[in-house]
Amino acid sequence: MAGKGGVGKTVVTATMARAAAKLGLSTLVIEVEGKSGLPSMFGQPALDYEEVVLSHGGGPDGEAEVRARTLTPDEALLDYLRDHGLSRISKRLVASGALDVVATAAPGIKDILILGKVKQLERMGDYDLLLLDAPAAGHAITFLQSARALLDTVRVGPINAQAQAVLEMLTDHARCRVVLVSLPEETPVNELVDTAFSLEDRVGIGLAPVVVNGLYDEIEGVGASAVEAAAAAGATLRKGEAAVLEAAAQFRADRMELQVEQTARLADQLPLAQLRLPFLFTTDIGPAELDLLADRLLGQLDQLPEVV
Ligand SMILES: Nc1ncnc2c1ncn2[C@@H]1O[C@H](COP(=O)(O)OP(=O)(O)OP(=O)(O)O)[C@@H](O)[C@H]1O
Ligand SMILES: [Mg+2]
Repeated sequence: MAGKGGVGKTVVTATMARAAAKLGLSTLVIEVEGKSGLPSMFGQPALDYEEVVLSHGGGPDGEAEVRARTLTPDEALLDYLRDHGLSRISKRLVASGALDVVATAAPGIKDILILGKVKQLERMGDYDLLLLDAPAAGHAITFLQSARALLDTVRVGPINAQAQAVLEMLTDHARCRVVLVSLPEETPVNELVDTAFSLEDRVGIGLAPVVVNGLYDEIEGVGASAVEAAAAAGATLRKGEAAVLEAAAQFRADRMELQVEQTARLADQLPLAQLRLPFLFTTDIGPAELDLLADRLLGQLDQLPEVV
């Protein structure tokens, strides 16, 4: 999942995981940047490097399990060294901050450590689906480009081999796709379109349908005739209330018009299917809200041109 900061990447990651569980697909969610609200959407505490269960599978509907973990470059390096028979020196090496020194000399090394670990998890095949909650768009491009960039700087040896294997995964559209997320607003849409072309051209990565998040749902009766609708519903409006109601309805109508415009513009500029998620008027997205979002997503699957 990639997209501009704050557009809902984490919410969409959680929604996809929940939807996958309902489809019976076991999922591992991977977080790479700090703390997010993802576990709380499943009613769970913060994540760790060790896998935790976000929601148990089973039940009458045969739901699959959702697990999650974080990945950090330091821990990924420890794992890598351990897997290559170097555990004796690995702890000291990582504790000494050697990774930071190397990372300065070869930018992208931290990204490749994370992506290398993702590749290892993918090859292990313990899950039907891996969902990576990627960093914000600007960084997502550098992040996903790291493999190709490293291949140019490091031409032989284990880092080269690692970068090669990561690039193979990233460019194999059957193994890996990027889901770009946007709000139905001008700047995020522009940025999504730019990111989409950068990812395709510079990384060669496949794009899944895009997700437009935060769309206002139609409310029946709320429109130009909000006051009439309120009256029809038996509400008696006090002085001044009619004007406020009218203004609120107008605001919402304008907002929705803008959203329709931006969504159409996105479809125009980017020939990718769109999945749409509603804006939820709530302060916190918890399990109930997540369920609602997942059902909305699943309701659109049959409109997609191909199985994702
Ligand atoms: N469909 C929605 N309805 C209501 N609130 C939403 C929706 N999607 C996201 N939010 C809220 O918007 C905020 C940003 O969402 P989220 O954290 O998923 O964005 P992000 O793209 O992951 O941000 P960052 O770039 O900081 O990681 C959160 O408070 C989240 O609860
Ligand atoms: Mg996030």
